[in-house]
Amino acid sequence: MPLSLTRADLQRTQNFINARWSDAADGRRLPVSDPASDAVFAEVPDSGAADARAAVDAAQAALPAWRATPAKQRAQLLKRWHALILAHQEDLGRLISREQGKPLAEGRGEVLYAASYVEWFAEEATRAYGDVIPEPVRGRKMLVVKEPVGVVAAITPWNFPAAMIARKIAPALAAGCTVVAKPAEDTPLTSLALTRLAEEAGLPAGVLNMVVASRERAAEVVDVWLADGRVRKITFTGSTPVGKHLARESAGTLKKLSLELGGNAPFIVFDDADIDAAVEGLMAAKFRNGGQTCVCPNRVFVQRGVHDLFVEKLALRVAALVVGPASAPGSQIGPMINGRAVDKIERHVADAVSRGASIVVGGRRLRSDSCDGPNYYAPTVLTGADASMACSLEETFGPVVPITRFDSEAEVIAAANDTPFGLAAYFYSRDIARVWRVSDALETGIVGINEGALAAEAAPFGGIKESGYGREGSRYGLDDYMQTKYLCQGLNLGAAA
Ligand code: SIN
Repeated sequence: MPLSLTRADLQRTQNFINARWSDAADGRRLPVSDPASDAVFAEVPDSGAADARAAVDAAQAALPAWRATPAKQRAQLLKRWHALILAHQEDLGRLISREQGKPLAEGRGEVLYAASYVEWFAEEATRAYGDVIPEPVRGRKMLVVKEPVGVVAAITPWNFPAAMIARKIAPALAAGCTVVAKPAEDTPLTSLALTRLAEEAGLPAGVLNMVVASRERAAEVVDVWLADGRVRKITFTGSTPVGKHLARESAGTLKKLSLELGGNAPFIVFDDADIDAAVEGLMAAKFRNGGQTCVCPNRVFVQRGVHDLFVEKLALRVAALVVGPASAPGSQIGPMINGRAVDKIERHVADAVSRGASIVVGGRRLRSDSCDGPNYYAPTVLTGADASMACSLEETFGPVVPITRFDSEAEVIAAANDTPFGLAAYFYSRDIARVWRVSDALETGIVGINEGALAAEAAPFGGIKESGYGREGSRYGLDDYMQTKYLCQGLNLGAAA
């Protein structure tokens, strides 16, 4: 079914390089499909090295004027972009839902989430303060100024096609950087629509360049950016193996990096928790976007005294979730992004069961009148999970809750930290001393304490350990696109002094 938008011109199907909408230099095309049915509904360019180079040429040419543009003017442009995103919330929400599969209500919500980053960084643009340092010796003035890093390459994932573009591109533009970007091959249309709105907001030519490529050709595009010394920063959200590859390959030109990589979030419920609040928190954190988020709980630990009650209450909520296509009113869980994603979920559940876990709810692919497509998986609760299972070792990235029973605080902290990843962690407790102890002990960049919804434009989002480095959102998110320059002026002015 073709996508019907109020503004048909928001469905762009070309790259945007140097303010021109263009096909891939070699004319190759990439189909875009609806995860609800796998039916192709659009085609975009499948770009290669020539397009990647053209984008850097444009971004480099635009850099001097853009970095010299007063911060207030850059902020005004971002505010116009923000207003246009809000004005087209419905169209953007429909695009997100169609290409990514999340229910329409969530698609609309993601537009607001994306817009909040654009607004935040529009405001931060004017606050990129430096410092005046009290000089340690006479006869000097010592200052610190913040400068844009230069051309930024942004590589974004499919799970939040609007929000991840916004929270990388808005701070880059606010800082005075120019951008070359590659959206995920599964979800290019939202980023192209956002680019169209940035164009309409009045962004000068070459400041933002968008290049789409298939999974097969992505490396060709990214390799150009990795090798090109004019690209001074890479910002990436995606898997840890790809993040490590980018870190290795960008070493040749020592680029600045922001890497928001895989997570394996623990969610801990202590005996002293408010159990209803913990169930609500888990529902919000786990089932947002069908469990396809880097911060969603991947391992759930429940203390022995409340285990059975928690499982009982959670199972009732999970069994009541409505699974269906993004467009169906009332859908709460859409299809997974593609068949590979469902295969992985199936493999994790089968592995857990073969190692002794029990299925309390779900545990199967779904095919029904309302879910007539290949990519649906039933929201699932497993008990008896342990650290040997694939679902404890890797991100499942789907609607599966594996529960492990535990006895002591020390035991659960050790288990929660027993992973190379360190993005987010959650715990529920009403004991104030425990709240501080556990917050200190958890090895993650983000901790949710009696709260399941963590991300916000004003907060620093990012991980430690093999979940990467750099922060997105907040004032720290602007810093990641700036470099520090120290100015030292001697006051020994000779005769005049
Ligand atoms: C992500 O999954 O990478 C982002 C999730 C979020 O912004 O909350």
